[in-house]
Amino acid sequence: MKPLIAGNWKMNGLASSVSEIETLVERLNGSAPEDRDVLICPPMTLVASLAAQFSDEAIQIGGQDCHSSGAHTGDVSAEMLADAGAAYIIVGHSERRADHGESDALVKAKAEAALRAGLTPIICVGELEADRKAGRAQDVVGAQLEGSLPETDDDFVIAYEPVWAIGTGLTPTIADIEEMHAFIRSKTRNNVRILYGGSVKPGNAKEILAVANVNGALVGGASLKADDFFPIVMAAPVN
Ligand code: 13P
Repeated sequence: MKPLIAGNWKMNGLASSVSEIETLVERLNGSAPEDRDVLICPPMTLVASLAAQFSDEAIQIGGQDCHSSGAHTGDVSAEMLADAGAAYIIVGHSERRADHGESDALVKAKAEAALRAGLTPIICVGELEADRKAGRAQDVVGAQLEGSLPETDDDFVIAYEPVWAIGTGLTPTIADIEEMHAFIRSKTRNNVRILYGGSVKPGNAKEILAVANVNGALVGGASLKADDFFPIVMAAPVN
């Protein structure tokens, strides 16, 4: 399976940030990048311009969220993101589940909208620290998968992001990552890519990306600078 290394810029990125992607693409072009998929998900305001500028390059551009359809002031549909040149959409990120009260059913509707628009959804799941401490991590992630995955054979990606590992510098042990990814694999098809996310950095990417059933990474803070993101991209083992 071709690894996918995806950068989630969250609410970061201005027109001036394009220089980081130019640097990233320059480095990728010198490094046989076709054996891995590289994705940047900038804020909505940059999707169209970055997709236009980098459409023939070694990276793809994605959205961080979408709405399904209808009259929703301020929201953006999957179809609009496809029209703007996006290839993927992150749905159900824990920040949206927490800040916007997004339910599993809504995440599933968004994933299905992305598929209808011809985009690949990256469906995020992950437990809170209290869940892990109480031994409930698999129960929580299992319920999220059950409620959030689209009922289709189309191509989608799952991102396991333990909430307590996001932006904290903390990561689960390698054994815990392996166990959770094996559990997620048991709940989905063999050809679905399962990404790990949560404090992935140049210093830990190689070890994490080598774990069985880890088919790539969803990277937050370390995706903002080419100097950090490029070594993470290159740390993915290729079969
Ligand atoms: P960090 O890599 O900054 O921990 O963020 C992870 C994340 O939330 C990616 O979606």
